[in-house]
Amino acid sequence: MMKTEQLQHLDNQFVHPWEDVKSIGKNKRTVITGGTGIYVTDSDGNRLIDGPAGMWCVNIGHGREEMAQTIASQCMQLSYVSPWSLANSPAAKLANKLVSIAPEGMNHVFFTTGGSTAVDSALRFLIFRNNFLGQTEKKHFISRANAYHGSTFLSSSACGKTRDKNFNDFDKEHFHFLSDPNPYRRKQGQSIEEFRQLLVDELEQKILELGANKVAAFIAEPILASGGVIIPPDGYHKACHEICRKYDVAYISDEVVTGFGRLGHFFSSKVVFDIDADIITCAKGLTSGYVPLGAFLVSDRLLDDFKDTDESTGVFSNGYTYSGHPVSCAAALKNIEIIQDEKILEHVREVSPYFQQRLHGFIDYPIVVDTRGMGLMGCIECEINPEQNDQQQSTDQKGYAVPRSSPPQISKADKLAIDYDLGNRIDKHCQALGLIVRPIINMCVFSPPLVITKKQIDEMFNLLEKGLQLTMKDLSSEGLLD
Ligand SMILES: Cc1ncc(COP(=O)(O)O)c(C=O)c1O
Repeated sequence: MMKTEQLQHLDNQFVHPWEDVKSIGKNKRTVITGGTGIYVTDSDGNRLIDGPAGMWCVNIGHGREEMAQTIASQCMQLSYVSPWSLANSPAAKLANKLVSIAPEGMNHVFFTTGGSTAVDSALRFLIFRNNFLGQTEKKHFISRANAYHGSTFLSSSACGKTRDKNFNDFDKEHFHFLSDPNPYRRKQGQSIEEFRQLLVDELEQKILELGANKVAAFIAEPILASGGVIIPPDGYHKACHEICRKYDVAYISDEVVTGFGRLGHFFSSKVVFDIDADIITCAKGLTSGYVPLGAFLVSDRLLDDFKDTDESTGVFSNGYTYSGHPVSCAAALKNIEIIQDEKILEHVREVSPYFQQRLHGFIDYPIVVDTRGMGLMGCIECEINPEQNDQQQSTDQKGYAVPRSSPPQISKADKLAIDYDLGNRIDKHCQALGLIVRPIINMCVFSPPLVITKKQIDEMFNLLEKGLQLTMKDLSSEGLLD
């Protein structure tokens, strides 16, 4: 077995996603060598809880023998066949299975290679459809600040995280952004209801400003995951969906994270948020991350428009060598079977209230300014001296935002730099204690494997508690906390 240092040395030739160019070749990442259930093991033999389930994806947990066997036997049976003019059994069965668990009226599936390509394909499909139907101007898309939809040119153009916009090019002509739907960021004195209405009005105004005949779709995550587990106000999605219907704007529900159990259902758009999306994108939990696969499901409403056409050149020229890959589709079928047989969705619904209760307990820590979550997704947002900001967390009994007290102690620039690194600081301590958290700037997000038990939820959050205490101790010794 190679030593950790040797592996880290080799790894420095791997340019990782979102790598800061100045650190290429200089990193010393923790090397993960194994995994079972909610735990992974590093190359020094330490066991860690996988707090983010990889990247929101290892839903059934690590090291499932039945998954390994399914994948191996599919490789032996048929490892690959072209999806262009041929069919394969796992892809056909998976399409059928997905339709059976999807909301009513979604009867067709396009397979892709992951979440970005699912979103990209969905956007391209709408551009194609509108051109085909003669609505050649209807190709503008509306998204939100802090949304994340992927890393291809089109899907990244739909992302609203400003930090990801540095030094890259995007389609700025066709993508438009509304404000962040995070209730924590609402203005002082604004009620949640007022905030919700503002967000909905903003969407309607943008459609009217661009012209309904020019807007192809509104794209939204049910919960803005990578933006920091942002949970828009109750009723927000439904109201936005109604606006879209009013102006014949398609609604793309990006369920790449929320799909396959994270909120206790295979898909959350209809069951949790009461929206009849026109397109649902999914990936990640679709195979629980064992092999790559993505898909977008499309409603009959959108497909039916093609039925009456005599147009003979309507080829949707989009797809991949690995669309409907038999090994990935076999893995997805097994994954769904495991979720159903082991009643994992029911389990998520049962343990989520406890997960949320423990998560919200962290609001009492002086550096924690917001705790938010739903299902088995959660986030703690941290800051030193939060009272220096305009943004508010505390609410009075009527849900109105009220200011926090106590005076600022350091310059705004210093505070920003320290806040930016808080997620990393907490993650460092937690990793040493045996917990991986996903640090995003000043936030730590949690989305553990769905098989996590209440006892393991305690184990996870007890480690977080210790990690937070050590972080605060560091900050105090640096004179940054009282
Ligand atoms: C909501 C959402 N959409 C799309 C994507 C892109 O998926 P992938 O990284 O599989 O391409 C992600 C990835 O985190 C995501 O969170």
